[in-house]
Formats: sequence, structure tokens, C-alpha cells
Amino acid sequence: MKFDQPAGRNPVDRQRVVGKPHDRIDGPLKTSGTAPYAYERHDVVPNQAYGVILGSPIAKGRIRRIDAQAARAAPGVIAVVTHENAGKVGKAKAITAKLLAGPEVDHFGQAVAIVVADSFERARAATHLIAVEYERAEGRFDLAKERDAAVKPKMSGDEPDTAVGHFDAAFADAPVKVEQTYTTPNQSHTAMEPFATIASWEGRRLTVWTSNQMIDWARRDLSEVLGIPRDDIRVVSSYVGGGFGSKLWIRSDAVMAAVAARVAGRPVKVALARPQIANNTTHRPATIQRIRLGAAADGKLLAIAHESWSGDLAGGQPETAAMQTRLLYAAANRMTAHRLATLDLPEGNAMRAPGEAPGLMALEIAMDELAEALKMDPVALRIANDTQVDPEKPGRAFSHRDFIGCLRIGAQRFGWERRVAAPGQVREGRWRIGMGMASAFRGNLAMSSAARVAIDGKGEVTVSTDMTDIGTGSYTVIAQTAAELLGVPLAQVRVRLGDSDFPVSAGSGGQWGGNSATAGVYAACMKLRQTLARKAGFLAGDARFDGGRIVSGTRSFALAELAGRSGLTEEDGIEFGDLTKTYAQGTFGAHFAEVAVDVDTGEVRVRRMSGAFAAGRILNPKTARSQVIGAMTMGLGAALMEEAVVDTRLGYFVNHDMAEYQVPVHADVPVQDVFFLDEVDDKSSPMKAKGVGELGLCGSAAAIANAVYNASGVRVRDYPLTLDKIMR
Ligand code: MOS
Repeated sequence: MKFDQPAGRNPVDRQRVVGKPHDRIDGPLKTSGTAPYAYERHDVVPNQAYGVILGSPIAKGRIRRIDAQAARAAPGVIAVVTHENAGKVGKAKAITAKLLAGPEVDHFGQAVAIVVADSFERARAATHLIAVEYERAEGRFDLAKERDAAVKPKMSGDEPDTAVGHFDAAFADAPVKVEQTYTTPNQSHTAMEPFATIASWEGRRLTVWTSNQMIDWARRDLSEVLGIPRDDIRVVSSYVGGGFGSKLWIRSDAVMAAVAARVAGRPVKVALARPQIANNTTHRPATIQRIRLGAAADGKLLAIAHESWSGDLAGGQPETAAMQTRLLYAAANRMTAHRLATLDLPEGNAMRAPGEAPGLMALEIAMDELAEALKMDPVALRIANDTQVDPEKPGRAFSHRDFIGCLRIGAQRFGWERRVAAPGQVREGRWRIGMGMASAFRGNLAMSSAARVAIDGKGEVTVSTDMTDIGTGSYTVIAQTAAELLGVPLAQVRVRLGDSDFPVSAGSGGQWGGNSATAGVYAACMKLRQTLARKAGFLAGDARFDGGRIVSGTRSFALAELAGRSGLTEEDGIEFGDLTKTYAQGTFGAHFAEVAVDVDTGEVRVRRMSGAFAAGRILNPKTARSQVIGAMTMGLGAALMEEAVVDTRLGYFVNHDMAEYQVPVHADVPVQDVFFLDEVDDKSSPMKAKGVGELGLCGSAAAIANAVYNASGVRVRDYPLTLDKIMR
């Protein structure tokens, strides 16, 4: 099904099942510990051996010699695999890092060897017996130092730089200005489920049970790395304990399990230990962002400039932190630029809301500083600079943009009018109290997505698609979509996900999954509806689907009866046309936070978080809210805690475990109020929905930073806002 015209009225508009706060259908499996994650698939293939990866202790250089004799002779060891005996291990085009080192070493923690043994403990013990001689080379590990050497990157898809009007002249003439530099640190995704894979060969055919967000990309990349046909690879990822972008692409667990299983001649299971993850996989790259805002006395922006520097391994991509600044606020004169330095750190890549998450951390403090300079309310400043068209391409309207609605409703629900504008004025004992706000924006992406829908002689519906559920609620919203379209109870719909044997879906990334994957299921269900109507002798346009029956006028048939003993199956997908180009598509919101700052220690406690969001039709208010409060919590971590600290001499992330890499725990998270505006976007898909998985993170850290300023009068421009920075 091609989607290239705005959606008219369609069966989803009835909203009998879609749009309702159904519990997650995978909830009982998750809460009872019976949803099988990759490493727990003990049953899928017999004779599984254990693989443990040895990572490089140097960040850059060469392997001179590997002596694995002692490891091979250790008790229980079945095989030791290095670049010398792994067979062909290439590089996937879409993945910057090589997933097996040798002889070159590209980053600290890069896989150098895998030991396969009959127990995990024996495999791990034997990794310590491998003697590797390295030749260490100079590396570049410090973004601040490499900033001047950064270059204009070649980007996949977007332009690195844009310019409209005359920024320099307009900024020079602007009556009120802000010019500041902000920094955001490297961050680690820190998903609860580690990277894990079981790999098994049957002749030339490879099956991996793994933890991955994008099944078809995994198949493509494994095919490129191992040099085997795509059709010989099956990827299964039924449940994923968090990805946040780290599992968009395969990592060393999948590749090393596959090569180890080939050498060992039996299935091998591999999980990365927690301390390996930060340096062996990917992270959100640190940024340096320079922002210049020039405004008229009434608050109207005259000039906006946003420049961002980040680093990556050679051949990598920049963190696109200036991207949202092209779309968020009106202003006739504007420029954005991304610069990329080469760093010999582990691969930098997508982490939840790549671009906007760090970009808004900077831009939205700058807007707070501008509001202060203007003596203007921060909410009013944002309202004054709203735009209904792409500010860089004024002929291009937003498909639907109720940013002002979010600001107004959010402010009202939060009680923003009680804020005292002058900082440091409100005190409760040893706490200084403050309020802050920030805008939320995230692009709405659409990806083609296919599904197969079957109905059997009992009227049971089965949906199959390679879509993943990374904790987001995919199982549930897909079931709701099929139940809505076929007029059957939710309990009669079975959803099978995360298997490359199923039709290729949008996968989970960039908050496109919910809208795109359900639109694919919509397409398949519409096709099945036609087939059912034809069987019933009805015109498809006249038929209603209700209570497990197809109804036309006074006549009706049970779907089960039409399906018959052999059942009926249809397959289709959604293909998005030009609507995403002719219209700017985005999701919007406004974040509000109240914090308390200890006058003696600088300790920050977040007391309340509140947000209002406009993201098209909300397919399930319960799962959507869960996404947003999770993202707001992540914003709290980004504001106050998260930083993967680089050892700039040795080139690795020092705090590579959950004891030292701080994320919020329950006691850190306050009351969170989430409000969704009631809207549909007929240009986003037949579902009229958009993404919410990342939106809640966009801007939430800045709202907290601005609240800390309002509480204490201390403006910290380098995240995270730790006590030392506030005290200083
Ligand atoms: Mo998201 S960072 O595209 O999983």
C-alpha cells in the first residue's frame, strides 16, 4: 500500500481498540520472568557452548603476536578464535567499527579473541591465559583538543551545513544577544539487557538469537561481515531488554558468536559482561555547541546560529546536534553547521533521539538565557517564535504543529505562573527552589514496513512481522491495530515479532517504529479485509467488521466461517511517498521541572517533572506514557548524572559499569505528569500517529538545567550538572 495522499476517514478512526490504554500483552511474560531473552534461549538448539570475548587493552596500535596455547589447553576449552583463525571477518558498510581486531586495533575494548568452553566460568578463566603482544600507537581521544582539526563531514542524507539570509549582519545588529558555548558528554546507553547472541550453524545456514532493534539490518550486516548470502541467515530477536539505539546494528557478540560457532563446530552463546559494554560497543558522542541568538526587544528572533562539534572513528558520522535548530523557531537569518573530528575512541553512534537530545540540551539553555536578557517569560519567548512553516524552506508547511498548544497546556498543568523569574529567591530551609522549562521537538520519520496477517477457522488472528519490541509496546499496539481493523477482540490476536522469517518491518529506531509498523499491519489487514469481503460476496467498501463478523446491510458472516479449515493469509506493507518531503513532519512538546538545590552541598533533587506533547494519534496512552516517563527520566540522568568519562591518555571510558556510570534510580525520580494533546496527523500514515519514544527525552534535561539556574542563580553550561560545577 502506497501512502502518498493524506489519509481520509478510515477504520482506525473508530478507535474502539486503537487509542485505548490496553495493558501490554507481553506484560505477564515480562513480569513473571518467562519472556525468553537472547541469552536465555536454552531450548532453541542443543549442545550450546559458552563464548567469552577478550577485548583490547590498548586503544590504538597493532597486535604483534597472539599466544593462545595455554588457553587452548585449559580445562573445558573447545576453541580459541582470533583474527588468525576466524576465517573471513569483513566490515559492514553501515557499521563504522570493525567488530574483530587484527592485526590493527582501532579502539579500546575491541574484540581480539573469543574463548569457547563447556562452561562460562572456564571460558572466562581461559581468556586470562591468552598472551597478546601489542604495539601501541598514538591516538586522539580529546574532543576539545581535536576541535580545530574537525572537518565538514560527508553525511548520509542530510546536509552538514545550512544558511539562510545574512546571519552575521543580523546578529551584529540585534538589540539583544546571547552567545555561549555548551558541552554535552559522552553517554552510554546502559540498557538493562546486555548484548547477547546464541549462534548456530546448520551446514551453510546460520541462525542467531540475539538482542537487536533492526532485524533486517542485522541480516544485511552479518551477511557483509561473514561474506555469506543474506538468505542463509536467520535472525531472531523476540524480546529486547532495552536498546536506546545501541542495538540498531549488530555488535561483536553476534559476529564473534557466529565465527566461534563455526570454528567450534557447535552452537555458541555470548553475552558481553557489563564492564565490556561501554568500550566494546557504541556511545552517544560528546559535543561542543556554540549558539548565537539575536532578538528584537519584543522577543522575536532575528538571527540564530548553531554550530556543533563531535568526534568519531575515521569514517564515522557526526552527532547531529544542530539539526532541530533548522526547524524549531522562526528567524529570517540563520545558519547551522556540524564539524567532525577523528577520535580513536570506541564508535560513536545513535542513542535515543540522536541529534535532538544533546542539541536541545544546549539550545534550550540558550533560549532561557535569551529570555532572561529580554526580561521575558521563557514560555512567551517560545510562543513568540513559533512557525507553521519550515523556517529554512518557507514553502514547506508542517504537516501538523501544535507547539503553542503544548506550551500553554503544559504551563497551566505545571503551575508555571507561580515561578519567580529572578533566580535564587525561593528558599525552603536549606533548599533553594526553582522552576525551569524547555521546548521538546523531534522529527517524525517514516519507514516502509510489511506484515503478514492470517485468520484461522476459529477466528483467531495471527500477525507476523520482523518488527521488534524493545520495551516500547510494539506487541500491544500491533495487536490493537489488527483487532481494530478485523473487528475481533484483542485477546483473539496473536502477534509474532522479531524473526527474519517474517516480512520486513520498519524495525525499532528513531521513534518511527510505532507509527510505521502499525501502518504496515494496517496495509496487510486491509488486504485481508478485501479477501474476506470477496469471499462473502460483499463490496469491500460496504463491509463492516464487528464482533468477529463481516457485515453488509442485513447480511453477515462469521470471519471464522469464511476463513474455513485452511484459513486465509494476506501480506502487504506500507510504502511512504513524498508526504514526508512536501511537509515537515515533527513531534512537539514542552517540558517543565521544579528542583531543589542544597545551599551547602549543591545537591540537586528534582521535585516534579511535567510535560505536554503533540505527536499525532496516541495509539495507546498507557504504553505512550510509559515511553515518555522513561525518556523524561533519561533526561533527568542527562541533566544531573550521566557521563562516560574519557581517560584522554589511554583512550577509554573509565566508568564502564553501572556502579560508576550513574543513571537515575527510583529514589531520584519525582512525580511525572504527562499530557498528550488530542490530535491526529493525516499526513503521517493511515494510523495518523507519530513517534513518542524519543520525544520525551528531547528538552527534558534543559528544563532541569534551567530550573537549577532559577533555583540557585548558577548557570552551568557543561553537562551533567554535578555538585562540583554548581559549588564552583
Ligand atoms: Mo534510536 S537512537 O534510533 O534507537
